[in-house]
Amino acid sequence: MQTITSTQHRNALRAAPPVVLPSLLLCDFGNLEREIRQLEAAGVRGLHLDVMDGHFVPNMTYGLTMVSTLREITDLPLDVHLMISNPGDYLKKYVDAGADLLTIHAEAVDDPRPLLEEIRSLGAGSGLAINPPTSVASIEAALPLCDLVLAMSVMPGFGGQAFDEVALEKLDDLRSRVPAETLLEVDGGVNSKTIAACGSAGAQLLVVGSAIFREPDYAQAIANLTQLAGSEN
Ligand code: DX5
Ligand code: ZN
Repeated sequence: MQTITSTQHRNALRAAPPVVLPSLLLCDFGNLEREIRQLEAAGVRGLHLDVMDGHFVPNMTYGLTMVSTLREITDLPLDVHLMISNPGDYLKKYVDAGADLLTIHAEAVDDPRPLLEEIRSLGAGSGLAINPPTSVASIEAALPLCDLVLAMSVMPGFGGQAFDEVALEKLDDLRSRVPAETLLEVDGGVNSKTIAACGSAGAQLLVVGSAIFREPDYAQAIANLTQLAGSEN
C-alpha cells in the first residue's frame, strides 16, 4: 500500500530533474508486474499512464482498474495522462485509484481552471496538457493552477510517432511564464535524438514509450536517455 504522499512524490520528482518517465502504452501488459519490476530495477522514478477513451483520441487503452492495479504493484509516483472527454466526471475516481499527478487536456474542456482546482483539492498534482496546435497563450489564465504543464510533441493517441519540435518552443515559453515549482513535461517521440533538446528547453519530466519498450535492455535505454536529457543543461 502506498505510504508516500502525492506531495512527497511531486517534491521528489522536482528535486532532481531531468526525470525519464516510461509511458505504459507499449509495455508487455501480459507480464505487467515483471515489466514494473524491471523498470524499478532500472531506477525509474515514476510511471506515466496513458488513459485513452476512444473518443477524445482515436484509440482506447485502459482506465481506473489499471491505475489501481499499478498502485497495488508499485510505490512509484503515478503520472496519469487523461486523454479523455469529460475528464471532470472522473477526477476523484482517478485520484482515489492512486494518481499522484493527474493531467487533463486543455482541448477537452471549456475552462480547465475548476478541474485543476478540484485535482489539487483531492490531494493530487494538477496537470494541464496542450496538443501541438494549441498555444501556450490559450492556457495562460490556467497556469497558476498547474503543478504540471505537459507540452505534447505528438498528437495524442499512439506511441512511436515522430517528434514535433513545436513542443520545444512551448517549453521555452512556459519556463518564463510559470513559477519554478511548476513541473514541465514533454510527451511523444522523445528518444535519443530528441531528448537532449527537450532537457535544454526546460522539460523536467520526459515521457518515453517506444525508445524504452522497443529496446531489449530497459535499464540501458533509460540510463542512456537520462544522461542525454541532462547533457545540454
Ligand atoms: C501518446 C502518449 C505518449 C506515448 C509516448 O498519446 O501520450 O505517452 O505513449 O510514446 P512514444 O515515446 O513512443 O512516442
Ligand atoms: Zn502520455
